[in-house]
Amino acid sequence: MDVTVCRFAASRLLRVEIGIRKMLLQRTFWVVIALIIGLAVAKLHIVDSRPHRILLDTDVDTDDFFALLYILKLNRSEFELEAITINANAWTDAGHAVNQIYDILYMMGRDDIPVGVGGEGGILEDGTILPDVGGYLPIIEQGNSTAGGCRYRQAIPIGRRLDIDSNYGLRKAFLPQGSRKYSPLRQPTAQQVLIDKISAGPITIFITGGHTNFAIFLLKNPHLKKNVKHIYIMGGGVRSRNPTGCCPRNASSSCEPIQCGDRGNLFTDFISNPYAEFNIFGDPFAAYQVIHSGIPVTLVPLDATNTIPINEDFFKAFEKSQHTYEAQYCFQSLKMARDTWFDDQFYTSYSMWDSFTSGVAVSIMRNSHNKNGENEFAEMEYMNITVVTSNEPYGVHDGSNPFFDGHKVPKFNLEKGGVHSGHVQTGLRDPFCTMQNGKGRCQDGYTKEVKGSQGVRVLVATRAKPNPDTSSELDRAYFKSFLDVLNHPQQTGKFNFTTQFRYYKEVLYKPDFGSKKLGKPIVFDMDMSAGDFLALYYLLKLPVEVINLKAVIVSPTGWANAATIDVVYDLLHMMGRDDIPVGLGDIFALNQTDPGDCKYIKVIPQGSGGFLDSDTLYGLARHLPRSPRRYTAENSLKFGAPRNTDHPELRQPLALEIWDSIVKKLEPGSKISILTNGPLTNLAKIIRLRKNSSSVIQDVYVVGGHINHSNLDKGNVLTVHSNEYREMNLYLDPLAAKIVFESSLDITLIPLNAQRNASSFSKILQRLGRTNKTPEALFAYRLLSRLYRLQQTHHRYHHMDTFLGEILGAVVLAGDSFLNPILQIKPIKVLADGAESKDGQIVVDEKQGKLVKMLQAVDPVAYYDNFANQLGVNKQSAVIGSFDEQRRIWSAQPNS
Ligand SMILES: *[C@@H]1O[C@H](CO)[C@@H](O)[C@H](O)[C@H]1NC(C)=O
Ligand SMILES: *[C@@H]1O[C@H](CO)[C@@H](O)[C@H](O)[C@H]1NC(C)=O
Ligand SMILES: *[C@@H]1O[C@H](CO)[C@@H](O)[C@H](O)[C@H]1NC(C)=O
Ligand SMILES: *[C@@H]1O[C@H](CO)[C@@H](O)[C@H](O)[C@H]1NC(C)=O
Ligand SMILES: *[C@@H]1O[C@H](CO)[C@@H](O)[C@H](O)[C@H]1NC(C)=O
Ligand SMILES: *[C@@H]1O[C@H](CO)[C@@H](O)[C@H](O)[C@H]1NC(C)=O
Ligand SMILES: *[C@@H]1O[C@H](CO)[C@@H](O)[C@H](O)[C@H]1NC(C)=O
Ligand SMILES: *[C@@H]1O[C@H](CO)[C@@H](O)[C@H](O)[C@H]1NC(C)=O
Ligand SMILES: *[C@@H]1O[C@H](CO)[C@@H](O)[C@H](O)[C@H]1NC(C)=O
Repeated sequence: MDVTVCRFAASRLLRVEIGIRKMLLQRTFWVVIALIIGLAVAKLHIVDSRPHRILLDTDVDTDDFFALLYILKLNRSEFELEAITINANAWTDAGHAVNQIYDILYMMGRDDIPVGVGGEGGILEDGTILPDVGGYLPIIEQGNSTAGGCRYRQAIPIGRRLDIDSNYGLRKAFLPQGSRKYSPLRQPTAQQVLIDKISAGPITIFITGGHTNFAIFLLKNPHLKKNVKHIYIMGGGVRSRNPTGCCPRNASSSCEPIQCGDRGNLFTDFISNPYAEFNIFGDPFAAYQVIHSGIPVTLVPLDATNTIPINEDFFKAFEKSQHTYEAQYCFQSLKMARDTWFDDQFYTSYSMWDSFTSGVAVSIMRNSHNKNGENEFAEMEYMNITVVTSNEPYGVHDGSNPFFDGHKVPKFNLEKGGVHSGHVQTGLRDPFCTMQNGKGRCQDGYTKEVKGSQGVRVLVATRAKPNPDTSSELDRAYFKSFLDVLNHPQQTGKFNFTTQFRYYKEVLYKPDFGSKKLGKPIVFDMDMSAGDFLALYYLLKLPVEVINLKAVIVSPTGWANAATIDVVYDLLHMMGRDDIPVGLGDIFALNQTDPGDCKYIKVIPQGSGGFLDSDTLYGLARHLPRSPRRYTAENSLKFGAPRNTDHPELRQPLALEIWDSIVKKLEPGSKISILTNGPLTNLAKIIRLRKNSSSVIQDVYVVGGHINHSNLDKGNVLTVHSNEYREMNLYLDPLAAKIVFESSLDITLIPLNAQRNASSFSKILQRLGRTNKTPEALFAYRLLSRLYRLQQTHHRYHHMDTFLGEILGAVVLAGDSFLNPILQIKPIKVLADGAESKDGQIVVDEKQGKLVKMLQAVDPVAYYDNFANQLGVNKQSAVIGSFDEQRRIWSAQPNS
């Protein structure tokens, strides 16, 4: 046979083979046999000479990118990573996760690898799966939008998600930034990337997060299943016994074991469900679909990963072995994980989860002629397992199971009374899941061994193999491979952020106001939605003799996730205001604690027009220059962290601390004005915890609230039908709003109707287009025109004028008399009884209401002019216009 046939695609080859066989039918038996043997040899040769194509589906936790870097470092003629899809339903938030992946790939010189994230499709009531389901929600909660609950995701502590989104602050300190980034409606979706790469030929899938993306792919594209050769999964616990919180053998009798011996590892609240592991718990129904798909599966569960915890010897060896940028990045991340670990059990409870799985997988693939998964790193055993998706008794209708409840025909035609028809865990504190004796009984997400037809035969890693070199301090074979691969010089990272530029220099810009008499002190409380950044530009442009912005406090209970605080730092850096402190507020609305049920925040879409866009400032955040100030994980003993890291001085201050420091430094007799552009969580906390705050607060401008004047006059909480007359900022933390509106503060409310009367994109853009082109005016123009274009292009962006309206508060606060504001004084109160239909509602109450100034309208033309002109003023303008400008400066020799 001609060897060039080897280059043909496998299916093509098969056709050729059949064709040849047909042609040869007339010839002698012996010739046929000879040719077939020849072909078989040729085929074997092909398998060996072409790289294994791999697609990685990841939730971008720390150990996920260890796995990613390990794979990227392998010999590309053996293993080719074809694509990455992001599971947006677990440890990270999509906008932060995707940009981190882009940065890692850029560092590694692999801008060619496609990355898929999100998508706006939904699943209809009848089970129809629309194209491009984003996988932001587990399948059981997936409706026709990307907004929804967090019954499984609440297992992931939201504070930890902040650390993972920002990689503890290391991501921005270390990773270089290339040209790829998330961009609205241009970002390839997870499903598109899966379809493209799987249609292109035989491929192996690695899953190191929740299974939502791949399960949806299988349900929607059963015809492409044949191209998936194998699935390698990190997840589950089959016969595992959790080593965390165990009492040592010599322990005194007072030692109480915590999660010791459980199958699972939901350390946040394992009482209700001692069986589940995070990745599978993220979407048990999806994991069921994947494991029962008929595609060969290899599982690397806790059984095996518990036997390869990061121990002190490995940690020390790693510390000494950082010869590449990728090794440096991994080590620094691991060190941060250790230094911020919640107790002193890091070395027994932090395992090589995903990277170990990638090692086991590639080692099995290398030995693919071995049937039983022999490999260098783990012992393997076949087991028959399933994934528990609901709890016995089956066939109940207790309101916990949206696949069945309220459906005549169950969704996806699931079997009535079958394994999916029992009680589904509704949250970590679901009372059904905890028995009277305090023991947990829910098994959702348990990879359980079963007999008979309920199970699937799966190859399971049972333990990590020891290092054959017994003289080495590394006691596991994989430890050695991990350090070798990460440190070898081939396919290595090009640079980190600081070595990318020859003349890189870290600078903080602080203004010198000399002897100027500074104006009214302001604290700006924002939730980091797009409009808030425009309002922040405006506040920074007002002459400091009139308005003196003292601090920014951010509330992550609104439109953006906490890690977006870095965008605030970058904008302040651009404007030369690294002197302005930034405080981070509570991650939960009042009356909510970890594990939160996301009762209010669930109304914000995860995808387009929601978190994905806010977290990236609609794709524009990365045009801002990069500030040396950034979020850093709490890592200093001084502030109650478990231990000091390398830089205990770099700690993210809290909103209340910033407030206290501002109050302390206030000149006698002067008072602060507060502008709130988000939920009132921070302000309510100040009122509650700082009893004398009213004596230092001059007045408060609250952007938010809505009173409907007819039933056509809806609010902007459109995803909760019983509450569609409310406004988001009050709805997102109703109790906080109630506290604020019961206080003695002097409040001016800028409600939705007033905002709507001054929110014409075309007019404000026209004005901005004519103003002086300062970098900030250009940026504002760019952001607003992007919002406007998106609004006209896609229905998920219908609410964009909400953000335009948010600028109004800052302009009203500045108090330009040309605005002709019409104010009305009304006695109001805010409802916060916990009832979804009423929470956040403003009622006029002549007897008990608090008198509040409500803005009715401003002169819109004066308002647009004022905003545009102010941004065009040359004074107090940007000191560094953009990231590009920053790169130019760092690339050229300084003049001095
Ligand atoms: C990668 O594998 C190919 C084919 O097996 C081999 O020729 C090549 O030398 C390998 N490259 C490295 C850097 O090991
Ligand atoms: C679901 O969303 C699609 C657009 O993505 C829309 O066309 C359809 O009407 C919606 N269906 C329902 C039942 O809301
Ligand atoms: C980048 O790499 C250089 C050289 O290895 C190192 O000195 C520097 O600390 C690294 N930067 C960061 C942020 O770790
Ligand atoms: C238990 O033994 C270990 C060493 O085996 C020792 O380090 C530890 O202090 C002992 N703990 C107690 C409570 O005696
Ligand atoms: C496991 O499943 C296979 C078929 O998938 C079956 O042949 C085998 O008997 C099962 N083993 C056990 C112990 O149930
Ligand atoms: C307000 O109260 C705090 C203690 O809660 C105190 O330290 C501070 O001096 C008081 N400030 C004023 C202005 O009274
Ligand atoms: C506001 O909308 C609700 C719900 O449709 C309606 O009952 C109420 O009458 C409306 N308020 C006014 C003042 O029209
Ligand atoms: C808001 O604008 C509309 C349309 O321009 C106008 O009819 C209405 O009177 C305005 N409302 C107020 C309170 O000015
Ligand atoms: C808030 O929590 C407190 C104590 O946990 C409770 O008494 C109160 O009813 C809650 N308020 C609301 C509005 O849920």
